Amino acid sequence: MSDLILPHYPEQQGIDPPLDYADYRSTELRHPQNPLVVLPQMLTEVTGPVLGEGRVRPGDHDLTAQHAGEPIGQRIQVAGRLLDSDGRPIPNALIEVWQANAAGRYKHHNDNWKAPIDPNFTGAGRCVTDSEGHYRFVTIKPGAYPWKNHVNAWRPAHIHFSLFGRAFTQRLVTQMYFPGDPLFSEDPIFNSVPDPKARERLISSFDWETTEDHWQLGYKWDIVLRGAEGTVFEGPTA
Ligand SMILES: [Fe+2]
Repeated sequence: MSDLILPHYPEQQGIDPPLDYADYRSTELRHPQNPLVVLPQMLTEVTGPVLGEGRVRPGDHDLTAQHAGEPIGQRIQVAGRLLDSDGRPIPNALIEVWQANAAGRYKHHNDNWKAPIDPNFTGAGRCVTDSEGHYRFVTIKPGAYPWKNHVNAWRPAHIHFSLFGRAFTQRLVTQMYFPGDPLFSEDPIFNSVPDPKARERLISSFDWETTEDHWQLGYKWDIVLRGAEGTVFEGPTA
């Protein structure tokens, strides 16, 4: 082992959701029982596998164009920038998304509630941020879905986001929501973020600039890695 000094980021009090949150029932079973151990990232971990531009095809950002027909639902564009804590853009970052279809159902064998599968919608896409940190996805607005956490539990409409840094070991995961969702107040995942302002930063804003007549509605959502305007990410960020 070398004397490599690793960066350490303390927990962001009031921003990071607790690993064990009573209202979010499954966290009781899966949260760590012992203090976390930071594994040093050595040359192998930080150099491969290589992610990014070479593996992402030009149409991968368009979730409405992956099949023979158009998916059912409200066509939307979700766009924004990936920024560091000082507002500097982060280029060449791989961003992946996954989501339910317009009826609130995932194309996944574990999802079998009584909402229809859309044969023209898989619900996964990816892109790489440009030199100014911009990303963009064209998709269908996801529906709410039930999830058995408590009686009549419904998740607000959301899109899951995964961000990769320069290597496989540098990954952040979060969820983006839509403005005005009536389900926010009863959602334990949304409300597990202690700071109301940090919660608000998970909600995209409607955007006329990217709304196109007779084509799509636009939503804007910037992702900030850390700092006072930081986006909330799932799990420990150390
Ligand atoms: Fe989900």
